[in-house]
Parts: sequence; structure tokens; C-alpha cells
Amino acid sequence: MGPVTDHPAAGSRTATAVAHPNIALVKYWGKRDATLNLPATGSVSITLDTLTTRTTVTVDPALDRDHVILDGRVDADSGPRITTFLDLVRQRADTTARARVDTANTFPTGAGLASSASGFAALAVAAVAATGMTLTVDELSVLARRGSGSAARSLVGGFAAMDPGHRADGSDALARQIAPADHWPLSVVIALTDRDAKAVPSTVGMTASAATSPYYDAWVAQSAPDCAAAIDAIARRDLAALAAVTEASTLAMHAVMMATRPGLIYWSGATVDAIHRVRRLREVDGRQVFFTVDAGPQVKAVCEPADAPAVAAALREIPGVLETTTVGLGPGAHLVAGVT
Ligand code: DP6
Repeated sequence: MGPVTDHPAAGSRTATAVAHPNIALVKYWGKRDATLNLPATGSVSITLDTLTTRTTVTVDPALDRDHVILDGRVDADSGPRITTFLDLVRQRADTTARARVDTANTFPTGAGLASSASGFAALAVAAVAATGMTLTVDELSVLARRGSGSAARSLVGGFAAMDPGHRADGSDALARQIAPADHWPLSVVIALTDRDAKAVPSTVGMTASAATSPYYDAWVAQSAPDCAAAIDAIARRDLAALAAVTEASTLAMHAVMMATRPGLIYWSGATVDAIHRVRRLREVDGRQVFFTVDAGPQVKAVCEPADAPAVAAALREIPGVLETTTVGLGPGAHLVAGVT
């Protein structure tokens, strides 16, 4: 085994990147190719601030295998997925040197808060720099997609649209910014209903949905019009229109999930209560807010910043809501320290 030291050895190179999770408004659920991780659907998302993944990659020719540290501990679970991703970077950089990856999240990993999105976005940026390459944001988005489809969107700050692409090699399956964060500085109130990691990971769940859900084809067919409606609503800062398409996409995705055999039920009771509360906040109380839910039990309430305190207070009153966190929109993945 090669040495693992706190100080980079001669010939090694280190880069550190940060990335933030993103939340899809129009959802990605299903793949048109599993090997290249090509999505079957487009998606539209917002990249968050505050919640952060910080990843340092040291490429060190003295190592005989990759070493992965997640939140300060050797990580056996995500290690193989990270090594597979690093193999792609090494192939592109034409190097065989192994790496030490040290990554930390300021939020729970794997609990429906999109840790794989910020994780692979930060890893892509840091690993590319540590292997001495310079790639465009489009190229980084394509690369991050190989790690996790949603990670392609965290390369972009503010509002992003992910194109499922048409090419067999996946070079056009990437996310691009449709508006910067300051175009419409929305708030997101995250209602945590469960601190544990989700039971069925997204990759496994969406593959099962494609194979067995009778609603899957209709779901894929609805994606392009929903993406177009969301992009239009964002351009006009039309919260009512964005609410309609986001809630429809969320509920349709969960219908596909539930109709998968055996059914995928990501919600807890508190998830359903929070969904109803958000609808009441908008329709009865006049708050500018709508909900979205991913492959987990947390509810994310997207709202105008002026409504965020009332939305958070209302969600905290629901039995089973453990806590709320309010965040804003943030930047795309980027290097935070010079390459050394
Ligand atoms: C429900 O990006 O985690 O969050 O590409 O297999 O890694 P893989 O899946 P992933 O799936 C995200 C699914 C979702 C919806 C979304 O973010 O669009």
C-alpha cells in the first residue's frame, strides 16, 4: 500500500472544489443508457447556497489505490463509485496515478438532499484540476453526469436546464444555465422528516420504474413540454406557473415510483402533511410558495424570500417535521484553492 500523508508527496498535485446541491423543479427519473448514464428525460433545477460539499483531490503517483474519506471516515460504500469516476478522469488525462479524495458535506448524505449531485460536481471539478486538465463548463457537466445525472446540473449556478441529448456518445446530454441566481432570488425551505439515508437509491429506483411501471412511457413523453413550461415561467418570474408545473412533475414522478413493482414509496406521513400545508399556504393564506419532493421523505418548499419565515414556521408545526432549513440560490461548482 502506498503512503497516505498529510503533506503532498513530490510529483503529487492537489485541488479543492466546492459544489452545492440542486433541486429539480422538472424531474429526471429514468435513463436512456445506463453505461453512459444518459437521462431519458430533461430536467430543470435550481442550485442552492449554504449546503455545501467540499472536496480535495490529491493525485499522487506513490499511491497504489484510491483512498476515499467521506465526512472524516474511510468510506467503503461510495468508494467503488468514486474510483469508477476517477478512472474516467484518468483515462481523459492519460494518467494512471491514483488519488486521495477527501470530501465533506455540511448536510446529511444520501437522505434526499441531493448529496450525489453536489458530490460528483465537486469531485469532477477537483479531479480535473488535480490531473492538470482544463475543461469547459459544458465538458465538466458531461463528465459530472457520468457520476450522477443530477450532478451535471450542479456545475451551473442559479437556474439550470438539463438536455437529455440525442447523441449516442452523450456529448449533448448536459446542463446549461438558463438564468443566474439574481434573476429571481427564490428561497427554499427544506422540511426534514427523516435523518436516515433513503431505502432505495435513485439509480436503482429509476431503473426499476423503467422496467416495471406502466406509467413510465407517459412520464417520459411529458418531460419536454414540462421543461419548456418551467423555462418560460422562470423567464417571466411567474411563481403561479412555476408552481403548477413543478408540483405536477413531482406528483407524476411519485406516481411512476408508486406504480413500480414492487412500489417505491419514498414519502413518510409527515411528507404528505407538509405537501397539504404548502398547498394551503398558497391557496388559502396567499403565500407565494410551492412544494417539491425527490427520492426521499423531505419536502422542499420553494418561495419568495418574504414568505420564507411564515412557510418555515408553518412546516415546523407539523408533527414529524424534525427541523427546517432555509437556503437561497447559489453558484455552480468551482475551485476554491489554487492547484498545488
Ligand atoms: C429524484 O441523479 O441521483 O432527485 O443519475 O442514477 O445518479 P443517477 O440518479 P440521480 O437522480 C436524481 C433523481 C431525483 C430527481 C432529480 O434530481 O431530477
